[in-house]
Amino acid sequence: MEKSNHISDNIRYVGVDDLTIGLFENQYPVPQGISYNSYIIKDEKTALLDTVDAAFGQEWMARVRAELGDCTPDYLVIHHMEPDHSANIARALAEFPEMTLVASDKAVGMLSQFFEGYDFNGRTIAVKEGDELNLGSHCLTFVAAPMVHWPEVILSYEAKEKVLFSADAFGKFGVPGYEDGWTNEARRYYVNIVGKYGAQTQALLKKVSLKDIEVIAPLHGPVLSGDLSRYISLYDIWSSYRPEQNGVLVAYASVYGGTRECALEFADMLREEGIDNVVTFDLCRQDVSEAVSQAFRLSAMVLAGVTYDASLFPPMATFLHHLKMKNYRNRAVGIIENGSWAPVAGKLMAEAVAALPGIEIINPKVTLKSRMRLSDRPVMEALAKALAVKVKA
Ligand code: FEO
Repeated sequence: MEKSNHISDNIRYVGVDDLTIGLFENQYPVPQGISYNSYIIKDEKTALLDTVDAAFGQEWMARVRAELGDCTPDYLVIHHMEPDHSANIARALAEFPEMTLVASDKAVGMLSQFFEGYDFNGRTIAVKEGDELNLGSHCLTFVAAPMVHWPEVILSYEAKEKVLFSADAFGKFGVPGYEDGWTNEARRYYVNIVGKYGAQTQALLKKVSLKDIEVIAPLHGPVLSGDLSRYISLYDIWSSYRPEQNGVLVAYASVYGGTRECALEFADMLREEGIDNVVTFDLCRQDVSEAVSQAFRLSAMVLAGVTYDASLFPPMATFLHHLKMKNYRNRAVGIIENGSWAPVAGKLMAEAVAALPGIEIINPKVTLKSRMRLSDRPVMEALAKALAVKVKA
């Protein structure tokens, strides 16, 4: 079950929703916004967990003040130094001068990079894997999570209420009240933000599997509770570069519509071969982060691209660049190229994906000259058949 807001009487949510940002990290569209989550643990000692984006410092502090009343937090735990969570550290220290920052050694080292002129000496406690922060009846045990998503990231586990404060892990695009079933926007978030670091995510999953977890409290999106196995299982699949489902992504980038027409026709051929799970994707009109997410979701992919300036049409080149950056691998790939006089797109697309681990190029390659013609159909059908055999296997 997904839920938002407070975890319990003693673990309170003080995050904020950002419905105005448009582009997260100035690149990923977030039509349903994103939240910057922050929590307070109330006990003999009070801990504030993370801050929020710079644009929301005032709103966040008002929430913190409303939750704390006259109480002053003893600690600000910093799980991650990326500015969407750390931007208000100086503001918090100005508001609560007696408060101590608790963070990984690497995060402590980054403080002066982000807050020039502030003297953090004597105001920090550096923690590492297995260290504990005792708050009274609550105790945070730290779990190092380097590269999920930056090198300084450290998670914490609170044993009394069985809460994992998971930093970016298990976060998603969309504010907590946006009910979308979690998976699609969590996958798009994971693949594009953390996807390059599958091995590190796998290492983290192994460590947290030893904990008795009832609640996952990430830094974005809803707090997760109830049956957590679905979320953990999806993270295991994504971070091990296994497909979530058998099926084919047909990703096309078309200049005048000829390649698009062929790609859509090819998708129908796949369906006729009994592959129902086919997604067509216009790389010129839809966002590349969703294309990468769909590529991770499905077991096979067809690239339909155009020769342009004796090279590859840029929307397709961009997609391939993103796939490489995110360590895309272990998939079957078919190639459809178009070129009116000296086609090279097929060769370039095949070279790009063949350089990735575990990619199997499925033959035959389809080569169009300007537009799809009747004479192209047999080769298209042969590729559809070969892909269908692969996907069904
Ligand atoms: Fe949500 Fe890596 O910051």
